[in-house]
Amino acid sequence: MSKVTIITGGTSGIGRGIAEKILENSASDDILYVSYGHNTEQAEEFLHAQTEENQKKIRLLQADMSSYDEMMKFVSRVKEEASHVDWLINNVGISTYAKYEDYTFDEWTKIVNTNLSVPVFLVKELRPIMNEGGSILFTGSYAGQQAYSSSLVYGVTKSAIHFLTKSLVKELEPKQIRVNAIAPGFIETSWHKNRTPESYERINRKIALHRFGEISEVADMAYEVLKNGYMNGSVVDIHGGYDYF
Ligand SMILES: NC(=O)c1ccc[n+]([C@@H]2O[C@H](COP(=O)([O-])OP(=O)(O)OC[C@H]3O[C@@H](n4cnc5c(N)ncnc54)[C@H](OP(=O)(O)O)[C@@H]3O)[C@@H](O)[C@H]2O)c1
Repeated sequence: MSKVTIITGGTSGIGRGIAEKILENSASDDILYVSYGHNTEQAEEFLHAQTEENQKKIRLLQADMSSYDEMMKFVSRVKEEASHVDWLINNVGISTYAKYEDYTFDEWTKIVNTNLSVPVFLVKELRPIMNEGGSILFTGSYAGQQAYSSSLVYGVTKSAIHFLTKSLVKELEPKQIRVNAIAPGFIETSWHKNRTPESYERINRKIALHRFGEISEVADMAYEVLKNGYMNGSVVDIHGGYDYF
């Protein structure tokens, strides 16, 4: 039976790194559903950067994962085509650097929906078609382990994702589906494109390795967590020694 994987937000940054790692290690009849939000050009670029053989395995689907309805449409399309799912990677996440005093309820709700509520229901909807022995991974964040000052709502949602990871173990036990999260520190993606050299320097001073992480370093770890048969309910940090020295 071919292996079916779903990754949300797989056209850029960490998600793209994980998608490419999965493709590198895939068999010829495997299928990889890759969702993206708004940037079709970037999604097409991701697709065409892959080998011809791997392009045939990719199903690129646009879906705004801040919306329950869009997520449900995404699920319907997957269910129409795929008889089962083996791996599910919930990677989409957004943030804001607005100050707490400037928060609006709408902005708070959009971030909570995208980072937490929609992933909760995506897992609920896909669980019935997930194979016994499947694997689920959440992209959490070290900002959910340690309260950074920069984004309160982001840290709160990522902390909730870590707790959700542990809480889902029981729900997924009947089908022997494993569920884990990774908690990256500062990783070099377009997420940081507006950072000044001073901001990089200030953060690098706090990291024992004095640099941001590479996408491939996170993707390698994520892949190992996804396939390791005894990891379950774990939240694995990867931050180069942030604030440890
Ligand atoms: N970079 C870091 O330092 C860092 C550290 C810890 C954790 N993380 C987490 O890692 C994950 C990926 O971050 P990244 O840095 O790799 O970001 P990124 O390069 O900006 O990639 C984000 C991906 O998510 C998609 N996306 C964004 N909003 C979406 C929406 N509303 N609906 C559907 N898809 C959406 C994007 O597609 P479109 O562009 O088409 O919308 C893109 O494919 C996030 O959960 C983030 O919280 C990142």
